[in-house]
Amino acid sequence: MKVVVTFPIPDVAKKMISKHAVLQCWESEEGMPLSVLIDWTTDADAILTTLTCPISSEVLMHASQLKIISTVSVGVDHIDVGAAVEHGVIIGHTPGVLTDSTADLTLALMLGVGRRVAEGDALIRSGAWSDGWKPNLLLGTDLTGATVGLIGLGPIGQAVAARLSGFGCRVIAWNRTVRSVQGIEFVDCDTLLSTADIVSLHIALTPETVGMIGQQELAMMQDGAMLINTARGALVDEAALVAEIKSGRLRAGLDVYTEEPLPLASELCELPGCVLLPHVGSATARTRRAMFELALANLFAGLQGRDLPARLGAN
Ligand code: DGY
Repeated sequence: MKVVVTFPIPDVAKKMISKHAVLQCWESEEGMPLSVLIDWTTDADAILTTLTCPISSEVLMHASQLKIISTVSVGVDHIDVGAAVEHGVIIGHTPGVLTDSTADLTLALMLGVGRRVAEGDALIRSGAWSDGWKPNLLLGTDLTGATVGLIGLGPIGQAVAARLSGFGCRVIAWNRTVRSVQGIEFVDCDTLLSTADIVSLHIALTPETVGMIGQQELAMMQDGAMLINTARGALVDEAALVAEIKSGRLRAGLDVYTEEPLPLASELCELPGCVLLPHVGSATARTRRAMFELALANLFAGLQGRDLPARLGAN
């Protein structure tokens, strides 16, 4: 058996994998070139990967022995899932273990944008806070009592809603399939967009959801409303969002972008009406360890022909 790992992993994990299979591991922090990935995986039984390494239909076409792709992520938009199914390759991912960390960060963005945390920090560091307390300095908006619209009511959306109940928020939600969750009003997408003070995205990126928040959807949002995205950048038409923030009509808290890393030349970097984070929704030491452990458990189960603890489509 052979396992290809597409990113640097700790020695202890290498030892564990080597007990089950021949290991070929990409050791550089620079992404693995496609030609190397194709070359290494032609005779591989399994790939351990993460969201920075696309597993395209081209890779799958050459990997005739491949049985399992285990990704250290809940999102699988970097994998051509259709092609994997066609080639009989199963996919393991890491749902559940990152729910709380991602929900926590979503609240951090809501509070950070509403209370202008990054602007306050920048003001002090630049030396521009020169005359003490002022009645109108950095006035923001309250999360307490806000109407929050959740697009996507899976585990992360529900964990965000649970946190918001502590802030006395009215939580409304839309999900592809209707879900009844206590304390959350289910509404259609247009009502959500036009009613919420804060719209927060918790939906997977698929061919159906790419660009689902476009110019028209953003235009439906209330003046002064806030868009929070801890899911995937490509859900949103970023250029349209930039135009809305630039005009001062909308604000945003973003952890994800259409292009990552976000280029410094992006207009988002110049706009004070948004808080930007570098895709760190699941970035706590405990959660990253749990993701890695689950991905390894998926990998070993797949190699041994057992049911995966978290197989895509089975949860
Ligand atoms: C995921 O797992 O899909 C997140 O975006 C990164 O942790």
